[in-house]
Amino acid sequence: MNRSQNIRHTVIPGLTLLAACIAIGGWLTWPAGAQDQSGKRPIEHSMRQKLEATSKVLEGLATEDKDLVHEGAGVLTELSKAEVWQVLVDPEYREHTQTFRSAVKRLDEAAQKSEFASAQLEWLDATKRCFDCHNHIRAARAAK
Ligand code: HEC
Repeated sequence: MNRSQNIRHTVIPGLTLLAACIAIGGWLTWPAGAQDQSGKRPIEHSMRQKLEATSKVLEGLATEDKDLVHEGAGVLTELSKAEVWQVLVDPEYREHTQTFRSAVKRLDEAAQKSEFASAQLEWLDATKRCFDCHNHIRAARAAK
């Protein structure tokens, strides 16, 4: 299939995903109150990088650019290993980290095999993991 035949199949799901992403962006203004006077905390910097990597993956999926997907997925995986990410130590938090990482891995693997339809589904799964982990953090803090 050439690129122009492809575009109808990629742009429409791409736009849907982009809309989802913008919704996430709005929702992610949530930790504003958690910021301290000294400016950005390391975790915030890391999460900003995560957002940039996320949009790389999204763009890669929308244009069927597997290198871009791989690049973004690699950053997401590396970031999730970083110390700064480990703000909670409970088993459930660790599990969220693991499930997020494995969703990103499946997504990248599908894209590298040019199975973009399943990579796009894995993307939705990975994105849901963002919410799952954030919701868990909020619930854990509220319970304190
Ligand atoms: C395993 C846990 C976990 C997962 C999965 C996760 N995050 Fe986060 N995220 C955090 C933590 C921890 C914070 C910091 C919350 C705080 O301390 O207020 C955070 C905060 C954020 C912030 C706010 C940063 C700021 O500048 O205030 C953004 C944006 C963000 N995450 C994006 C994402 C995106 C996009 C994904 C999915 C691709 C994702 N996160 C997945 C743990 C996670």
